[in-house]
Amino acid sequence: MNKTFSLFLAASVFALTCAAKPTKDVDSLQWLKKTTDLISYQLNKAANTYTPGKNPRSVNPDGTVRLAPYKDWTTGFFPGSLWYGYQLTGDKKLADQAKRFTLALDSVRYLKDTHDLGFMLYCSYGNAYRLTADQIYLPALADGAQHLFARFNPKVGVIRSWDFEPWKFPVIIDNMMNLEYLYWAAKEFNKPAYAGAASTHATTTLKNHFRKDYSSYHVVDYDAKTGKVLRKVTHQGLTDESAWARGQAWGLYGYTMCYANSKDKAFLTHAERIASFIMNHPRMPKDKIPVWDFDVHNAMDVAQPAPRDASAAAVIASALLNLSTQVKDGKKYMDYAEEILKSLSSDTYLAKPGENGLFILKHSVGAFLYNSEIDTPLDYADYYYLEALNRYAEIKKIKL
Ligand code: GLY
Repeated sequence: MNKTFSLFLAASVFALTCAAKPTKDVDSLQWLKKTTDLISYQLNKAANTYTPGKNPRSVNPDGTVRLAPYKDWTTGFFPGSLWYGYQLTGDKKLADQAKRFTLALDSVRYLKDTHDLGFMLYCSYGNAYRLTADQIYLPALADGAQHLFARFNPKVGVIRSWDFEPWKFPVIIDNMMNLEYLYWAAKEFNKPAYAGAASTHATTTLKNHFRKDYSSYHVVDYDAKTGKVLRKVTHQGLTDESAWARGQAWGLYGYTMCYANSKDKAFLTHAERIASFIMNHPRMPKDKIPVWDFDVHNAMDVAQPAPRDASAAAVIASALLNLSTQVKDGKKYMDYAEEILKSLSSDTYLAKPGENGLFILKHSVGAFLYNSEIDTPLDYADYYYLEALNRYAEIKKIKL
């Protein structure tokens, strides 16, 4: 090849590469732009439609919207979604609405009979404080953290999840999600014991909740006096031995977040193992939105296609985006999360403006075997989808 031709070829390749780049960026911006427009529309309309303190949770089979009173475990997600919507779009109207829906949850700070205080207060008040630094949000956050910490039993090494029968001292994998609140409160309120409890809970759960393949049990019931494991079962999964999809998502998110807060390498290794279980699962559908339990196919005679769980996918996407920033080779996690987000943002999962009870995502599952919230929108699917989109935009340095 002569020198002039080589130079010409190199220049052409350079020009093509330069020309290709903006097109790719424009494509990815269009994908996000369409989604963001829909988010803005649905959230504004929902905030004008629903009443603070009776937050939209899901859609009933008859098409009416199931509302969550302040004691409901999901009550923090709608205000949290409004905060994430504001962060994503910069729409000040959403910030005003988010404040209104957040402050209506003040009574949650007095609850002592639930571990869900992280979901309820950190997703609402926590995001409010993160985005505004307004001290008005701190008293509720301080009380709630104190009540969550009070549920930690040092003998067992975990925070108690539920207070109802027939359980003795039950811990559900979902409880990993409430630890972020304790890590944050430890710093904010100078309470190092909160972070200690969070890490101890994660270490005990790592030991007792996981199987050899790094899938997790849903519920582990302990003896409160001795710390002995009494039984390992499920509450929302298909069988005691199955891999309930959202449970795997809660675990992945939980250990990724615990590593980010504690820098304990055992948590990172564990997060990567859970990620590998999920990402390499032979029954993960092509669009990467899992069926509500990974073991549905072989334990049930499913006449119709088993419903997918967009909420599990949204939690997985958000967790993987976080994980992608914690490891040297995070690209595989970033790419997988991007695939999930693109699926969720497609017409199959994304609502049409004004429809879907004003939720953003369709097709989630609450508790299949209780015939509750099957193939419906869910407030936490929207919340983690919005969180994931914010994380995606931040990592990719995309200005919307
Ligand atoms: N924390 C309950 C659920 O994931 O459905």
